Amino acid sequence: RTVIAALFADQEALSGQTITVCGWARTIRDMKTFGFIELNDGSCFKNLQVVMDANTLDNYKEIAGQNVGAALIVTGTVVLTPQAKQPLEVKAVSIAVEGPSAPDYPLQKKRHSVEFLRTIQHLRPRTNLFSAAFRVRSVAAHAIHCFFQDRGFVYAHTPIITAADCEGAGEMFQVTTLDLANVPMTEDGQVDYSQDFFGKKASLTVSGQLNAENFAMAFGNVYTFGPTFRAENSNTARHAAEFWMVEPEMAFADLNDYMNTAEDMIKYIIRFVMERCPDEMNFFNSFVDKGLKDRLEHVASSDFGRVSYTEAVELLKKVNDKFDYKVEWGCDLQTEHERYLTEQVFKKPVFVTDYPKEIKAFYMRQNDDGKTVAAADCLVPGIGEIIGGSQREERLDVLEARIRELGMNPEDYKYYCDLRRYGSCRHAGYGLGFERMVMYLTGIGNIRDVELHPRTVGNAEF
Ligand code: 4AD
Ligand code: MG
Repeated sequence: RTVIAALFADQEALSGQTITVCGWARTIRDMKTFGFIELNDGSCFKNLQVVMDANTLDNYKEIAGQNVGAALIVTGTVVLTPQAKQPLEVKAVSIAVEGPSAPDYPLQKKRHSVEFLRTIQHLRPRTNLFSAAFRVRSVAAHAIHCFFQDRGFVYAHTPIITAADCEGAGEMFQVTTLDLANVPMTEDGQVDYSQDFFGKKASLTVSGQLNAENFAMAFGNVYTFGPTFRAENSNTARHAAEFWMVEPEMAFADLNDYMNTAEDMIKYIIRFVMERCPDEMNFFNSFVDKGLKDRLEHVASSDFGRVSYTEAVELLKKVNDKFDYKVEWGCDLQTEHERYLTEQVFKKPVFVTDYPKEIKAFYMRQNDDGKTVAAADCLVPGIGEIIGGSQREERLDVLEARIRELGMNPEDYKYYCDLRRYGSCRHAGYGLGFERMVMYLTGIGNIRDVELHPRTVGNAEF
């Protein structure tokens, strides 16, 4: 059995040979004496053109009468067709129907809207758009592993279930085996989690960072890459309740080391995907986002911008009348501000650094001014924030004071503080939202279309 990708890759060697391919019919055309099938097997973006001759193919009528979507096994001869639209075709010797498709198969040759395709999540991977998107997603994941492994980072599998709220935003999905209709209570009227599965309140992780820091204090440079969960009630095109995050953590590193690594990583992923997914990228460039390829090439070969939060606020205040949400020092930047900075001011990705400590998480290292922290968000045109990260607070006394100041329970962060007791060191890390990276690579405008089965507010099919 040959996959279509191999057929296109080795066409000279396979020319004249008899091969067998298995796939799904994208189109079937019956011209009475002969017919054509466009077959796709998912191994690459391209379809294979199969030619059937009614005089030589025994079951021509059966095959020509199949519905689009049918699973077929085609045996035939490879013929190179350099003059034609496609460089090769297969002349069928025999075709077997592995599984017919019902006449109400919802995918037809015309272009369907992404909104419609979201209602058939189980079938949409068979469209050009999703075939390209999920192959790019897979190759981008490979790029991430190559980038970090080549640089000696250790891949750490951090847990999904946790008791710590890394970001402190209270957006955790709880994991419990308690009977919600009959929850055990303590004498002072609190839910008695000691009777729950883990003996304490547990949740799905919002970030693997705190665990990754433990690993970094032993292995030096580490990364996690896995699913994270947020019960954020934001119904936007770039928020999902379940998304994947890439989180490197580096010992003996500071904020600049984080930004340099992150910039190198984004450029590496872009080059890797452009090189390995030329058909997919041509498709996105023609049908989803014209100019995408030029833009990505430019990003991969020029420096990202860097600006402090305080400077960014000054820039934004000059055009405050443009914004629904007015900017002043101390406010969190909204998507409209992030997009203005990257699309109007810098016209390229930009790191915004040194945010006010009040709007950032407890673990970020305090700057000497007492007001800001050594944080940086990477913002990109079209999306806004794609990476959040910081240098971590490595000073035990400062960290403990901040934990108390924020009214958090120091007991819950005992392990985390312990790291500052035994060989603490300067360290930094960041989280790349993987779906947002795939959106950036493909020009796809909605996070629901880069996840196979998106989980968003009110939506958890399958
Ligand atoms: O900025 P965030 O919240 O940072 C952290 O979680 C840190 N603990 C990461 C670290 O330093 N190790 O999230 C990081 C990135 C964001 O920049 C964004 O790209 C993505 O994760 N992200 C989301 N992506 C999709 N849907 C959501 N609801 C997201 N929330 C964050
Ligand atoms: Mg963030």
